[in-house]
Amino acid sequence: MRLAVCPGSFDPITNGHLSVIERASKLFDKVIVVVLINYKKPNGTFTPDERVEMIKRCVADMPNVEVDYYDGLLAEYAGLKNADAIVKGLRAMSDFEDEFQQAMINKKLNPNVETVFVTAGEDNMYLSSSLVRQVCALGGDVSEFVPKAIVEDIIKRIRGKDGHK
Ligand code: PNS
Repeated sequence: MRLAVCPGSFDPITNGHLSVIERASKLFDKVIVVVLINYKKPNGTFTPDERVEMIKRCVADMPNVEVDYYDGLLAEYAGLKNADAIVKGLRAMSDFEDEFQQAMINKKLNPNVETVFVTAGEDNMYLSSSLVRQVCALGGDVSEFVPKAIVEDIIKRIRGKDGHK
């Protein structure tokens, strides 16, 4: 059985993330989406448990996808799960350097796991969780950028209880 992990901070999950997860679920027998801490952005808008719960709602129709949280190294998690690959989405060239560096470090830490990149679809090339948060905070419509199942969660958290700007 071929197993992939799809790691990320998912604060919150976007349509770009979901497209990567969906494609990974077709390439591998099983996919574990794992919420990890990105130490460059430690203070999240959503707690790790909230992120896991939101992702679970978005992947409910993908039977071979599980969702988990791990407070540690991605390479270690991949080893614990005996994963064959780490699958990540690559948006534009600006992602490349950082992603390349992470892939090299993860390979050093765990030589048994390969990093596989899938390109983001052109609809999602520009998407990121931080842009979604910013657009929402300034009153913009984020329903095109994130799965329908979590739009209300984002509005409530970022704009407050009544959802108004
Ligand atoms: O969605 P992101 O924020 O680009 O994901 C980055 C993430 C969370 C995958 C990365 O920061 C990570 O792997 N964090 C876990 C800690 C770790 O393994 N660090 C060493 C490799 S960078």
